Amino acid sequence: MSQEKITIEVDGQALEAAPGQMLIEVTDAAGIYIPRFCYHRKLSVAANCRMCLVQVEKAPKPLPACATPVGPGMIVKTKSQYAIDAQKATMEFLLCWRPARSQPKPDRRYVGS
Ligand code: FES
Repeated sequence: MSQEKITIEVDGQALEAAPGQMLIEVTDAAGIYIPRFCYHRKLSVAANCRMCLVQVEKAPKPLPACATPVGPGMIVKTKSQYAIDAQKATMEFLLCWRPARSQPKPDRRYVGS
């Protein structure tokens, strides 16, 4: 049984992929870096952090590369201003949110001794 391959375009580069393969797997194999926090190839896809957002032609919003299966003729931009803005907005959101939740409590043993 032969596995058919499809062709997608990422940052102007034609790449071959198996239908249904996740976009981040294809870009990783091609050496195209997409930032990520929650994706790891040996874990199930959680798609929680949204750091891997990329621009996909004809998609109404940025899509997470770790949870987006490739399709024939797909055109992806990982470094367009649109993709970079989406990644920066995610990073800003994560940085705004974390400190309030993870701020350490003062250690009372060393206060007012
Ligand atoms: S790497 Fe976290 S959503 Fe894709």
